[in-house]
Amino acid sequence: MSTLLKNKVYGWFFSSLANQLLFTYLLIITIALLAVSLWALVTIKSESVTDLQRQLEVEAVNLALEIDNDLGYDSQSARDRIQSAVDRRATKVGVTITVVNRDGRVLADSTPDDETALDSQGQNISRDSEINDALAGIIAIVTRNQERTNTNWLYVAYPIRSSGTTAGVVRVGMQLTEVEQRLRRDLIIFLEIILATAVITVAISLWLAERVNRPVKEMSKLAKEISISGDLSSFLPVARRDEIGELSLSFNQMIGRLREQERLRQEFIANASHELKTPTMAIGSVVDAMMAGAAEDPSLRGKFLKSLEKLVERQTNLIRDLLDISKLDSSTSDIKDWRHDVNLNQVLLEAVDQVRSQASSKDIQLSTPDWLENSIGDGFKLKGNGDQLQRAFINLLGNAVNYTPSGGKVSLTCDEPDNRRVQVLIQDTGAGIAVEDLPHIFERFYRGDKSRNRQAGGSGLGLAITYEIVARHYGTIEVESTVGKGSTFKVTLPASRETS
Ligand SMILES: Nc1ncnc2c1ncn2[C@@H]1O[C@H](COP(=O)(O)OP(=O)(O)OP(=O)(O)O)[C@@H](O)[C@H]1O
Ligand SMILES: [Mg+2]
Repeated sequence: MSTLLKNKVYGWFFSSLANQLLFTYLLIITIALLAVSLWALVTIKSESVTDLQRQLEVEAVNLALEIDNDLGYDSQSARDRIQSAVDRRATKVGVTITVVNRDGRVLADSTPDDETALDSQGQNISRDSEINDALAGIIAIVTRNQERTNTNWLYVAYPIRSSGTTAGVVRVGMQLTEVEQRLRRDLIIFLEIILATAVITVAISLWLAERVNRPVKEMSKLAKEISISGDLSSFLPVARRDEIGELSLSFNQMIGRLREQERLRQEFIANASHELKTPTMAIGSVVDAMMAGAAEDPSLRGKFLKSLEKLVERQTNLIRDLLDISKLDSSTSDIKDWRHDVNLNQVLLEAVDQVRSQASSKDIQLSTPDWLENSIGDGFKLKGNGDQLQRAFINLLGNAVNYTPSGGKVSLTCDEPDNRRVQVLIQDTGAGIAVEDLPHIFERFYRGDKSRNRQAGGSGLGLAITYEIVARHYGTIEVESTVGKGSTFKVTLPASRETS
């Protein structure tokens, strides 16, 4: 086979699951059936021949008993009796019978006139191997092709014993045509069965391969479409409960997830643009007003500049939050940045310091346990990013101060449920969070009380950032809140007092 043809055959075979299944099945089944048929034919042949041999042997023994006495007499009447016994038996059972004397000369033959006759009276046939063997006292069995008629014959030669010596031989023969014909018929039947099985196998394999192939092809087509166009609008049909069905289901789940991510991404961009637009437009209108003459008026100038400063600050915070959240989202952020030794007590104290002035300006009592300050040396230790953790606690403390009216209380406490975890509780006596808002407060851009928050100026990213930072430290964050009474945020982090 030329290399080109070989490559083509290989390519064709391995490019399709159906071809591989089909030809593997076909090969296995054909080999198995051929082996079984061969074994069956060999067994049938040997059983049939053994059967015939037994019949011929019985015939030979019976004739030997019958002519035993006459064999000793070399008279015409004895020969006639032998001949008639031979003829009678031969016509009765449909075999050819030859009787020879101890010298190997033919005494009687059942087919002397027949043109298929082998032997005629008086002829010495001791050269025939079976006669030779029988004259030596052995029961001989041979199969021989008779050249004249081109037929196969089975011969059994039986020695007739008389007073310790071989007095003659009875040879009974039978044509094997019938057995051979039966074997040929069986062989044809076997071949037909093999062919039919092969056809059925091909049909079943094709059907099976098509069943497996179709959904796989659909899947790869859809995957290709998605990778080229990014269109996530189609799902795969799932009509089966087998592994292929499961694969289709997982594929659809993956599409669903991608869709959700895409939706979140677009929502994020829309929200971010909107949030960025608001202060930008406000800055624009303040600048417009100032240019229109307000800048000339000393009383207005101060007011406008103050609001400009606020707007710029809000814009700066928003941009910082957006950068932070996109950094937290990107899986490429350097893993080393999250593996520093962190002293949690120090992080908490610095976070409290950051909100202290805001709290006192609102006349809010900000309390921390005394031991926190005195235990920086042997504080809670963990691996992570101190700046980010501080950011997370500033967000929580900032919210607590922000959403608590003047005169309220905000407290930070720590708890150690076991020696591998630390719980930080941030409690306030503020407005609390409405039940319908609670499940959403960690979502990006989600703000609870919209009117109140507009004044407060938040963008709704603070808790989302906090959540991501805590998750990055393998921690959890929970919230309990009662409207009008206050809220408690509980951050649980893996940390211990031993040096990590
Ligand atoms: N301690 C709290 N008391 C009452 N409501 C709170 C408290 N903390 C959070 N919330 C509610 O959860 C919402 C989401 O908080 P988050 O910190 O994410 O956003 P924000 O404070 O509105 O804006 P910013 O992005 O500036 O933090 C808030 O808008 C507020 O309604
Ligand atoms: Mg906030």
